[in-house]
Amino acid sequence: MAENALVNERRGWQLSNFKLGTQFTVFLMLVFIGGLIVSGVILYRTLEQRAEDEVASKGLILIQTMNSVRNYTSTQVNPLLAPDLATADAFIPQTVPAFSAREVFEHLRTNEQYRNFFYKEATLNPTNLRDQADEFETALVQRFRGDPALREQSGFRTSHGETLFYSARPLAIGAESCLVCHSTPDAAPDSLIATYGSEHGFGWMLNEVVAAQIIYVPASDVLNSARSAFVLIMVIVVATFALALLLINALLRRSVVQPVEQMGLYAQGLSDGDITAAEVESEGIKGVARRGDELGQSARVFLNMARERFAREQGLKKQVQELRIQIDEVKKHQQVKEIVESEYFQELQNKVKDMRAARDNK
Ligand code: HEC
Repeated sequence: MAENALVNERRGWQLSNFKLGTQFTVFLMLVFIGGLIVSGVILYRTLEQRAEDEVASKGLILIQTMNSVRNYTSTQVNPLLAPDLATADAFIPQTVPAFSAREVFEHLRTNEQYRNFFYKEATLNPTNLRDQADEFETALVQRFRGDPALREQSGFRTSHGETLFYSARPLAIGAESCLVCHSTPDAAPDSLIATYGSEHGFGWMLNEVVAAQIIYVPASDVLNSARSAFVLIMVIVVATFALALLLINALLRRSVVQPVEQMGLYAQGLSDGDITAAEVESEGIKGVARRGDELGQSARVFLNMARERFAREQGLKKQVQELRIQIDEVKKHQQVKEIVESEYFQELQNKVKDMRAARDNK
């Protein structure tokens, strides 16, 4: 009864009630899935961060390039054209740093690699209303204004329902020459007023941060590269694990489960008595006994036990046989004695005696 209760108790939904291979698989799967979730999250964050950093640094280089273009226009093109500008009826946009920067960027965008990049000089009070900073960009400019040590900001934003990654740098009025066109309408060339009006783009001060130079990239471009790298790495990791799991299972089957099963069979045979000495000496169990590990040790102990048992059985059989022979002899003696002591035999002997005496008397 008590034993049955123990067996029933053991048959619950416990890991130890399943096959060894299943136990290993379940355990390894749990470890793997846990590891995969933790490392997956870390890996994804890292890849995403790297992709962002890469785009941000690309943006930085582009902004620096735009600043070089601006600088070139201010120092080389503008001085050449300034006399013409003062007298020309039509405004000459080639004299404007912002114009050259935008033109160069548009050329850059004809490259497939930069097709999705956008450049904007988001300005609080712009000459060209197209450059007007929206709410989000205004906040960026204000932050640059409030913290002169802040040289860069980057991150994600949504604009017209699309998520964009941005990389921004402050743009300050770095030279007196800028103020010719951006201080007061009176100081600016007439053709500029004629083209852009006198309402916007004036009242700027030297060293004042008036705008943020921003490079925009669709977030999907940034995240897709991180995602495809992530998927690739995960596929490799999962495939490696699946292979490891298969190999571990095969190894377990070959070097643990099969030998243990074999030993179990022999032990069962030994206890039921339907195994012969020759079968115990067969290659199966001896192969296990040759192993240097714990299973080999158990198999050797088992072999010794089985041999001792067969030897003892052999001895017992011999003893029984000897005893039988002894018993037979004792029986024979007994029978002889019975015959000798029987009345008939006595009479026979007496007759023999009488006959001998009669013969001697003759
Ligand atoms: C010859 C006149 C002129 C000079 C000099 C000049 N700008 Fe401009 N600036 C303009 C005009 C015109 C625009 C609008 C161009 C366009 O249509 O995009 C402009 C645009 C800009 C913009 C983009 C925002 C906006 O107002 O539309 C910034 C920022 C800017 N200028 C800064 C500067 C700085 C800094 C300097 C000095 C290095 C400078 N400008 C020199 C005429 C000038």
